[in-house]
Amino acid sequence: MGRKSNKAKGKKQKRLEERAAMDAVCARVESANKLDDPLAAFPVFKKYDRNGLNLAIECQRVSMLKPGTVDWAYELTRANMQTLYEQSEWGWKDREKRDEMTDERAWYLTVRDADSSPLAFSHFRFDVECGEEVLYCYEVQLESRVRRKGLGKFLIQILQLIANSTQMKKVMLTVFKHNHGAYQFFREALQFEIDEMSPSMSGCCGDDCSYEILSRKTKHGEAQHSHGGGALRGLLPLREEEEEGEGAIHLSQPSPSSPPPPPSIQPHCLCQNRNSEEIQGWERDSRCTAV
Ligand SMILES: CC(C)(COP(=O)(O)OP(=O)(O)OC[C@H]1O[C@@H](n2cnc3c(N)ncnc32)[C@H](O)[C@@H]1OP(=O)(O)O)[C@@H](O)C(=O)NCCC(=O)NCCS
Repeated sequence: MGRKSNKAKGKKQKRLEERAAMDAVCARVESANKLDDPLAAFPVFKKYDRNGLNLAIECQRVSMLKPGTVDWAYELTRANMQTLYEQSEWGWKDREKRDEMTDERAWYLTVRDADSSPLAFSHFRFDVECGEEVLYCYEVQLESRVRRKGLGKFLIQILQLIANSTQMKKVMLTVFKHNHGAYQFFREALQFEIDEMSPSMSGCCGDDCSYEILSRKTKHGEAQHSHGGGALRGLLPLREEEEEGEGAIHLSQPSPSSPPPPPSIQPHCLCQNRNSEEIQGWERDSRCTAV
């Protein structure tokens, strides 16, 4: 009897610790979302003056963008990405892409020339993915005339800097495997890794998926990793019977053998398409209401 009661206490304690850890994750996402300008502390990153370009970079919430900027960003995304989407299992969906780009949680890095004309942008969000606080890059899109001048790399470095300074664990994004230039850019030039959530790693749809989820840890993500504390394991919600039952605890992760349902939502730079109801399930359970 005594033993059982200690065991129950231990489980309750563990549950409380897990909830406290999840609250801390949510608090970090909320504080990041409360910033006026996540780039304010790094004025040197507000200019790009290299390779014949002299550009200004701003970081704002979608609601603060100049009129017409979202329309320009949408048109650039469509011009750069529509064919690639159509070559994937998702197809291109105008309305969903617009809704995603104007969602109130969206943050934008916007790059302008001396005449204030926009030339490039990145849409990103602070969010919780599998129990971890992350900066998710939904889009990075450049007009063709400013490509291969180091600007894309600079924008991703800014995202990494913002993620570090807001204590996010990693920068994540999704890339089509058939977007060969972007794939090389992220994997080879920027050393992003294939994330454990990516279908090719999780086994949810293997080689049939047209995309990979990539990530790069911040120093906070590296520190957590080196302390051996898998946030995923610690923070995923347990099933009722697992909380109360006698047996070993199994996490309610998607079974690698269960085939994913067809995608139900339009991805951003694709990333938002978790492509699995079950993954979306744990996201709902573990998500905090930030913004
Ligand atoms: C992908 C993109 C953001 C890259 O930005 P960029 O400013 O052109 O890239 P950078 O100049 O910073 O490139 C840095 C390095 O990445 C690699 N790289 C970049 N673009 C590449 C391409 N098309 N093919 C192969 N390697 C590439 C190179 O190693 C490059 O260094 P180098 O120019 O000295 O050889 C930009 O090309 C773009 O907007 N493409 C269209 C939209 C898109 O596909 N976005 C990504 C969606 S997930």
